[in-house]
Amino acid sequence: MADQKSSPGDPYNAVIEVRHQLNPLLAIFKVRPDSGEMMNFIPGQYTVLGLIGGESRSFNAQPEEISPPVDRVIQSTYTLCNTPEEKGLYEFYVMQIVGGALTPRLFDRQQGERLYLGNEARGDFTLDLVPSQRPVLMIATGTGLSPFISMLRSELGRGSKRRFVVVEGVRYSWNLGYRDELTRMAAQHENVSYIPTITRVELDPDWSGPVGRIRLLLDDDVVENATGIPVAPDQFDVLLCGNPGMIDEVTSFLVARGFSTEGREPGRIHAERYWEKAPAT
Ligand SMILES: Cc1cc2nc3c(=O)[nH]c(=O)nc-3n(C[C@H](O)[C@H](O)[C@H](O)COP(=O)(O)OP(=O)(O)OC[C@H]3O[C@@H](n4cnc5c(N)ncnc54)[C@H](O)[C@@H]3O)c2cc1C
Ligand SMILES: NC(=O)c1ccc[n+]([C@@H]2O[C@H](COP(=O)([O-])OP(=O)(O)OC[C@H]3O[C@@H](n4cnc5c(N)ncnc54)[C@H](OP(=O)(O)O)[C@@H]3O)[C@@H](O)[C@H]2O)c1
Repeated sequence: MADQKSSPGDPYNAVIEVRHQLNPLLAIFKVRPDSGEMMNFIPGQYTVLGLIGGESRSFNAQPEEISPPVDRVIQSTYTLCNTPEEKGLYEFYVMQIVGGALTPRLFDRQQGERLYLGNEARGDFTLDLVPSQRPVLMIATGTGLSPFISMLRSELGRGSKRRFVVVEGVRYSWNLGYRDELTRMAAQHENVSYIPTITRVELDPDWSGPVGRIRLLLDDDVVENATGIPVAPDQFDVLLCGNPGMIDEVTSFLVARGFSTEGREPGRIHAERYWEKAPAT
């Protein structure tokens, strides 16, 4: 579809320049703002994307699943995967939540189509949380990887020698959307290690890497065996992002090992929860 610039009253201010479909439910969107101006941000921060609810055509949810009302711009929060140094396009790594308010509509949008893009970046889940030379253990599930992509690209682009260990947990290997880039980073930078794990191996029998939830890998010393560094508070500060269940599970494990969710001592845990768990009934 041809690119359309914004007109008066147009709720949209940006165009999807690239849509890289990794599998039916997972995609990387690269978005160009009409203004041509890039917002300032710190790697790890997020902005919003939005679409008018009633516009979608081949919508894959049933009408009764569509909420909230469809006549307004529905917005959600997405972490920027690009770096502040890159000009032109913002990059977003998005999982479609079937029956969700925004993501089925976003996945209905093709390259060249328009959407609303927030004009500021927010959030304090950045490397500013961690003293400058302290090694960082980055732990993500699903698209919770996004902040770490921006942080790593930016840090390595500036020649950082800080030690980074990335542990990524997904259901299937085809949900490792940045696997090639992270594998390359680890091969090219001796200060980077990348440890992906999958949890639904019965549907992914060709996978030959670690298997099981991240908590299990930590319990089995997979990180220490892969990197030579024990998961101990005097070795790492930890950044956790993604599924709140993973965050709770891994936080409990780390606290039992002497890490802390507060204070400024080494061994600090910081977390970004992508959504809240449903309250227990
Ligand atoms: C700070 C922050 C940054 C975020 N960055 C990203 C990002 O970079 N990429 C991304 O894909 N998402 C990201 N999210 C999640 C995103 O904002 C939406 O929640 C998600 O895309 C679902 O939107 P939706 O409107 O389709 O579904 P909703 O109608 O909002 O959600 C329906 C239900 O799905 C569940 N849910 C929400 N998100 C997920 C998920 N990712 N995995 C599994 N279940 C989920 C929740 O239980 C929710 O109640 C981020 C969230 C936060 C708070
Ligand atoms: N990924 C897909 O192919 C797929 C397919 C159909 C629908 N969806 C939809 O997309 C949403 C997001 O899927 P996703 O795969 O990106 O994210 P996800 O469901 O959060 O799973 C990502 C990883 O986190 C693990 N995990 C989930 N809950 C956990 C907990 N409480 N503690 C520790 N680890 C936990 C999962 O392990 P487990 O495998 O053990 O749960 C998986 O390895 C789902 O809620 C679903 O609605 C996704």
